[in-house]
Amino acid sequence: MSKIKIGVLISGSGSNLQSIIDNIENGKLDCKISYVIADRECYGLERAKKHNISAVLVDKKEYGKNLSDRINVILEEDKNKKPDYIILAGYLSILSESFINNWNRKIINIHPSLLPKFGGKGMYGMNVHRAVIEAKEKESGATVHFVDNGIDTGEIIMNVKVPVLEDDTPETLQKRILEKEHILMIEGIKKLLKI
Ligand code: GAR
Repeated sequence: MSKIKIGVLISGSGSNLQSIIDNIENGKLDCKISYVIADRECYGLERAKKHNISAVLVDKKEYGKNLSDRINVILEEDKNKKPDYIILAGYLSILSESFINNWNRKIINIHPSLLPKFGGKGMYGMNVHRAVIEAKEKESGATVHFVDNGIDTGEIIMNVKVPVLEDDTPETLQKRILEKEHILMIEGIKKLLKI
């Protein structure tokens, strides 16, 4: 039987992407990455290329409002490579309504907080950890959720909690959470793929 195919969308360093690649290569995650697509130049594209995965830059500066449409064309153009599911692994652009409707319940996102807390517009990457520390939260974490037409509002699949320590900076908190994200990402994908 042919393997389930995933498309991974990224915007940054791609450490969650690396976790997916590593888990596929060591046999712990049974699927195939058919595309890695980035909305900007980023290190994650290099990670994909090193593993001979189709790595495509669809620059948001070039495509603007048509970014999601262009990504959709790429994902659908070769029916042998068309992904069954889409994973947002540090993807920072907002997907269009038609894209989300087209891939209904087939897209998941990983977010570096305990949603519904610290989600929404402007809440991404280090902004999230800064806000958590400013709010004097005692715990934070990461969440994997389905993507719907809101920002970080889709049905929660699972989360992982970490303590916020008294002397945490946004950077130390990010590091502690990111280590957990790499495991949560894989568990979330397994749940989505029902494997
Ligand atoms: C991760 O912490 C991910 O949760 C976050 O961006 C980082 C990407 O790291 N995503 C968001 O903030 C989405 N709203 P990575 O490129 O090393 O995987």
